[in-house]
Amino acid sequence: MSASRSALIARPKSVFDVERIRADFPILTLSPGGKPLVYLDNAASSQMPQQVIDRLVRYQTTQHANIHRAVHTLSEIATAEYEEARRKLARFINAREEREVIFTSGTTEAINLAMHGYGRKFIGAGDEIILTTLEHHSNIVPWQMLAEEKGARIRVAPINDAGELSMGEYEKLFNEHTKLVGVAHVSNALGSVNPIKQMIAFARARGVPALVDGAQAVPHMKVDVQDLDCDFYAFSGHKMCGPTGIGVLYGKAALLERMQPFKGGGDMILSVTFDKTTYNVIPQKFEAGTPPIAAAIGLGAAVDYLSTVGMDAIAGHERDLLEYATEQLARMPGVRIIGTAAEKAAVLSFALDGVHPHDVGTLLNQDGIAVRTGHHCAQPVMQRYKVPATSRASFALYNTMAEVDALVAGIRNVQKLFS
Ligand SMILES: Cc1ncc(COP(=O)(O)O)c(C=O)c1O
Repeated sequence: MSASRSALIARPKSVFDVERIRADFPILTLSPGGKPLVYLDNAASSQMPQQVIDRLVRYQTTQHANIHRAVHTLSEIATAEYEEARRKLARFINAREEREVIFTSGTTEAINLAMHGYGRKFIGAGDEIILTTLEHHSNIVPWQMLAEEKGARIRVAPINDAGELSMGEYEKLFNEHTKLVGVAHVSNALGSVNPIKQMIAFARARGVPALVDGAQAVPHMKVDVQDLDCDFYAFSGHKMCGPTGIGVLYGKAALLERMQPFKGGGDMILSVTFDKTTYNVIPQKFEAGTPPIAAAIGLGAAVDYLSTVGMDAIAGHERDLLEYATEQLARMPGVRIIGTAAEKAAVLSFALDGVHPHDVGTLLNQDGIAVRTGHHCAQPVMQRYKVPATSRASFALYNTMAEVDALVAGIRNVQKLFS
């Protein structure tokens, strides 16, 4: 018996009523391509429970007005609900203060905010930014743009064949020019969970702030930004059962206060004359214009939902799914799992001998199985493994062991067709 199998048996199974959870997600009952949906594309975007849909409907039907700028009752209600959503998000990630939660349109905008607000002010010629091979393009390209503009340099922490970062290699990259570390909490392409707590501690001990891209972590595990002691933490609503168009940049208040605004416009100012504008305090300084009010409130409902189910219970269930799926695929001839880190979350990337990932995705779709194929916006990871693309199954709280079986059967069908 393999070590992972014995660990699976030794650990008490979580009591997780997945069927009850599934009943909350109306889309899971559909057959969009004519076959019952097996939705395994959660790393790209997860589905929304009825509770969040209902909250959006209630907001739009009874509470909608623009926020912050009026004394009429509806505007006061909308403002209170929007700010309540901020409180919920702050509690969910254990931020010290609500004003440390900046609403953005998603992880991409959150990282761009950090780049413009922090990077453009505090990073200059000759400075260095440490990233990792595992980053999503949204945690690479903004920093490259900054490096190009300022004459700064990007340094990259490598991974081993399993898709794990080595602390030793990471530590070697630091020197007196290091001004920022950007690291994914969980790799979207491989599922590797990075040792971010040690990475952050190492950076902070040298006075270097650390930004964590948490897009693939927040939906799957308890995240405590105070415990991590990160300076920034970015994530997206639509990957955690919330709406699209909303996300969060968490930042330590003292840091956010020192940063320059990202976007200029209404709400982010205290006063404007043609001679001078005085900026608002945080978080408003970073929320120019009318924010995605409904989406923020919907995200508040999503974290209520996830909290009610329990992040530890979700993590346990998804660990069971991943272990089971890994074990199944590892046994299949002609299947190569890409990314075999000891610590993984919710993502299983694989390649089939002699079959292009695009064909894998297309054929699985004919069986109703939704997986993602491509470079997953992580081309440096593909380059590291010398593959153009992978097929990626990614799990959420509502997936089942039967869906893993369906994936395995689907892969067998693909192999038969290509044999
Ligand atoms: C690790 C990671 N970072 C950033 C992003 C970008 O998120 P969004 O498109 O919601 O801004 C993604 C999306 O897949 C991701 O997986």
